[in-house]
Formats: sequence, structure tokens, C-alpha cells
Amino acid sequence: MNRITSFEQYLSEYKKSVENPEQFWSKQAEEFVWKKKWDKVLDWNFTEPNVKWFIGGKLNITENCLDRHLAERGNQTAIIWEPNNPNETGRKISYKELHSEVCRFANVLKNNGAKKGDRICIYMPMVPELAIAVLACARIGAIHSVVFGGFSFQSLADRIHDADCSIVITADGAFRGAKDIPLKSVIDEALQTCTSVKKVIVLKRTNTEIKMQNSRDVWWQEEIKKVSADFPAEEMDSEDMLFILYTSGSTGKPKGVVHTTAGYMVYVDYTFRNVFQYNKREVFWCTADVGWITGHSYLIYGPLLAGATTLMFEGIPTFPDAGRFWQVIDKYKVNIFYTAPTAIRSLEAVGLDFVKPYKLDSLRVLGTVGEPINEVAWNWYNENIGKEKCPIVDTWWQTETGGIMISPLAGITKTKPSFATLPLPGIQPVLLDESGKELLGNNVEGRLCMKFPWPGMIRTTYKNHQRCFDSYFSHYHGYYFTGDGCKRDENGYYRITGRVDDVIKVSGHLLGTAEIENAINQHPDIVESAVVGFPHEIKGWGIYAFAIDDHGRKDTDELKKEIIATVTKFMGAIAKPDKIQIVKGLPKTRSGKIMRRILRKIAEGDFSNLGDISTLLDPNVVEEIKTGRIN
Ligand code: WT7
Repeated sequence: MNRITSFEQYLSEYKKSVENPEQFWSKQAEEFVWKKKWDKVLDWNFTEPNVKWFIGGKLNITENCLDRHLAERGNQTAIIWEPNNPNETGRKISYKELHSEVCRFANVLKNNGAKKGDRICIYMPMVPELAIAVLACARIGAIHSVVFGGFSFQSLADRIHDADCSIVITADGAFRGAKDIPLKSVIDEALQTCTSVKKVIVLKRTNTEIKMQNSRDVWWQEEIKKVSADFPAEEMDSEDMLFILYTSGSTGKPKGVVHTTAGYMVYVDYTFRNVFQYNKREVFWCTADVGWITGHSYLIYGPLLAGATTLMFEGIPTFPDAGRFWQVIDKYKVNIFYTAPTAIRSLEAVGLDFVKPYKLDSLRVLGTVGEPINEVAWNWYNENIGKEKCPIVDTWWQTETGGIMISPLAGITKTKPSFATLPLPGIQPVLLDESGKELLGNNVEGRLCMKFPWPGMIRTTYKNHQRCFDSYFSHYHGYYFTGDGCKRDENGYYRITGRVDDVIKVSGHLLGTAEIENAINQHPDIVESAVVGFPHEIKGWGIYAFAIDDHGRKDTDELKKEIIATVTKFMGAIAKPDKIQIVKGLPKTRSGKIMRRILRKIAEGDFSNLGDISTLLDPNVVEEIKTGRIN
């Protein structure tokens, strides 16, 4: 497949993509297998919003990920799987094997009542069956909703409930570092309130003892024995939903971001091949969990569409020791390595002794994603992992964008530490000031928006189109608003400065402050809480919680431990506050709104400029909070 090979070509492709987007994207789409070609490339407005790509086209994405490759690379490895425990044997699954595994599991889904259009929740460890489950859903035309295994029962229940899932696919447990995570028991707890679920398919992974509920729960390993490896792919419309993936918002419960079939397919394939400059037979490793969009787009769909070999790792970077990533790179001769700044910073912090034993000479390209990467971490990655010979692609994008939007093309775009550099062909970013005026020219800073659609973009938020409009299209009329602040330097390079709304990027995970507050408020002694972020050396941002206890309990470690346990139970360990301050009151306006601006300043330890506090209902609370600040 063709791809961009020089900077001049990037510039000319970019120009074409802006001058004639329909022609540009239809050329990319022609590379795929269609059951019926589209009638019209694009229909759009950002006011409803309504975005449709490749209208009238019929296809199945798994035919493009699997069947299409069988003739040329049936015996090539599609997935390399490395288990959590280095002493357990890994697996290599060829395209041919993956194709038959997916077909078999598609039959299992059908046997258990699944139909085209059903929503299926996947809550699994990072094992090949997770990829198989995702693809089998797509094969039968069911909509997958993968929930990260680190979320606990309330977050899981909210997601299953919102999507009205009829089937859950899970495992008895997950191995993560030295821990066993009891996935099935979390499912059992969540399903007490989710009546839509009729079947639970359970993969045996950890051999943890679990309860199987008669007639509802079945074992993966038993079901798979009953079926054949033939399954003709369901015919899907270009705009049929492919998946829902929940992401946190500024307010309320998480939003079900909806991606549809053809546009997503064309976009992740194009971005995968061009950003990483993927060459045939290279080994690509994306360390993200499939529970996040990065895992969907660049662990499963992008690499498989491109016929690549994709590595899936079950474990964590620090088990059995902090050399684990580097050991796996040497073991499988990984060529392209894609990870998050948090992981880089935490591995940098433990010192070079964990890097030194490894050669890392197979590496050709390094990537980062998920949050801004600071210059120190960028340089460490470049010098010690890339040995100053691997281009680093700092890729900016979002759950809602489906694929990478602003990024260097490896080895083609000149990089600059902490800059995501330039928009990919087809992407038209703009910076707006607070009043919505476009900031033209270079050396400007504003809010990052998009003024033209791209094939991989969000279509709606599940069952709630209004929320899609409110979240992304209502701030600035006629634009998609990303929620990020951004600078454009003298060369037109983009540098993302971070979120400008009430979500926090903690270790690269997007968490809504409202969601964390709801979890804290489940503690019986807490009446109200407010959560803000504070800069954190490793995690990027840490979680600072202010909580009001109405049972006169002392501000003790015990109470804090209980609050942390509550958050872990209801939301998951990824949302645990780093600092908890018990307060008597919160700074509120007369209309009852919490002034987070003040709390953010206090959390950062910056008391100098708290702004106007005269509108507060009770300005005294600010003094109390300042005095009790946790360092
Ligand atoms: C938010 C989206 C993209 C997949 C994983 C995260 C931040 C993402 C970068 C980057 C600076 C980045 C933004 C964005 N972000 N990549 N390279 N540089 N910031 O997806 O959880 O939907 O989060 O992640 O703030 O809005 P997500």
C-alpha cells in the first residue's frame, strides 16, 4: 500500500487533502474490500452535528483485517502474545489462525443469542482472546463496548447499563504484575443491577475459584468446542456502529463515544501506516490496554488492517522488574514501540541499571501518546531507548478522534521535544480565543478545535445525541472543540498544553472530577467533595480531593484510607486520590457552584492569585482550606 515517503510529499498530500477532501479520502478507501462501493464520500455539518462518510457502502471490517490478508500472509504472525509472567510461554497467532479463531468465536456468540446490532460488553485481561472477542463482535455486526479491567463494579455497571448490553465477555481473573484481579466477581456485583445481560461468557485464565450462575454463565473453553471455524462476515453499512467506548466528561457519567465502520477503518489504517512508517514484517508494539482507544486503534484494528505483526503484552512495566519492557523488545525484536509519557517517566525514575542489560537494537521508531511529554522525558527516551537513532512520534489524538490527528511522520517530519508537530493530511486544526475568534498566523495560543470532519471522528454519544452536541460542538459554533489548550510556534508546529475543562489526565488516563467525587461521596461519612488535579512528577497530574465529613470524625489516616478504599471499590484503583484534605466547607458561589479555580490554585500551592473571592457565599472557607493544605 502506498504511503508518504518524504516531507515534500507530506506537504503536497496535505494540500490535496484540504483542497479536495473527498477525492483524497476516496483514494484511501479504494484500498479495501467492499461488499458494495459507496455512493457518496461525505455528508456533514457541525451544527447538529451530522457526519457521514462513504455513504451507501457495504463492508465488514474483519474481512479487511483478516480475510483480505490470507492469500498473501496467511502464515505470517498477526499477534504475538507475551504473558504477565515471563516464565509462562507466550503465543504467536498467524493471520490464518486468527481468522479461524475469530470465526469460531463469532459462532459462539451466535449460539448464545447475539445478533447484529446488539451491544456486547468485553471486560477481559490482555490475552489474545480479548482481540478475538472484539473482532468476533465486529464479524457478526454486534457493537463492542470494551471496559478497562481496572474499572470496578460501579463504573462497569454504569457502562453496561447505558449501552443495554445483552452479553458480557469476561475471564475468571486477570494477572497483573504480582496481583490477581478477580474480574468475574466484579462482573457478578455489577450485574446485580443490570437486567439487560442474558449471557456471560467466561474465559478461564487464572483458575481462580468463581461462582457460575446456571443458565446465565458459560465457559469460553466449553463453548468453543461446539462450533465450526466458518463464519461468513455480516454485511454492514459504512455508518453502522462498530463500537462504543466510554470516556469521562466534565460532568455526570461517562459518555459512550460512538465510532462507525468504514470511516474508522479507513482512518486508523491510514494513520497507522503513515505515522509509524510501517514496513512489511516489522513487529509493532503498542503498550496500551485494549480498554482504551489506543488499544482499539493501534493494538488491534490499525496493525491488522495493515497486515502487521502486533504485540500484545498482558503485564505491567515493573514486573518482575523495571526492565520488563526492554526485555520484551529484545525478545521479539520489536521495531516500533508506542507507549505513554507516564510509563517513560516512571522507568526513567528507577535508573539506567534496568535498561543497560538490553540491546534495544531492533528499534526503529518510538512513539508516545496520551498526555503532553515533557522535554526531560523526551530526551531520556531518545537517548537511552532510541539511542538517538529512532525518530520519536509524539502523537496527539483522543477517544473521540478515533485515530492520530497531530503527529510527526516517523523519520519524515523534523521533531521537536514536547511538540506533536503538524496535522496529518485531512486534519484541519484551528486555534480559537475564548470568544471563538480564529487565531491566524504563528506564535499564537488558544483552544484547539477542528473545522472540517475526518473519517475517524465521533458520530454521536450513545443514545444521547444532545450530549455529543453539548460536549463538542456547542462551545464554538461550527467547530469540533477538543477540550485542549494549544500553542502554535513560529514554524506552525503544535504543542498541546493540556485540558482546559474539568477532566484530569492521571497517568494518561482521562478521569472526570465529577465521577471521582461521586465515588468519594459513597463513603457514609462524606457529604460532599470536590476534586481537582495538581502537577505530579510521574503521573503528569495527581488527584487532590477536598471532602466534607459530617459525622465529626477527625481528619485521620484511617478516614483517608477508608475514602481511598471506597473510590477503589466503586470506580477502580486508577481513580484513587493522591491527597485528601478533610474540610468544613467548600468555596461556593451564592448560586451554589463550587469555585474549582480556587481549589486548583490551593492544590498547586499557589496562594498568590486566587482571583476575586468576593462572590463567595462564605469567603472564610478559603482561609481554612489554605491552612490545612496537604503538601
Ligand atoms: C486527551 C485525550 C489519544 C489516545 C489516548 C488518550 C491528551 C493525548 C497527547 C499528546 C499532549 C495528549 C489530550 C487529549 N493527549 N495525546 N501527544 N500530547 N496531550 O485518549 O483518553 O480520550 O484523552 O489526551 O489532553 O485531549 P483520551
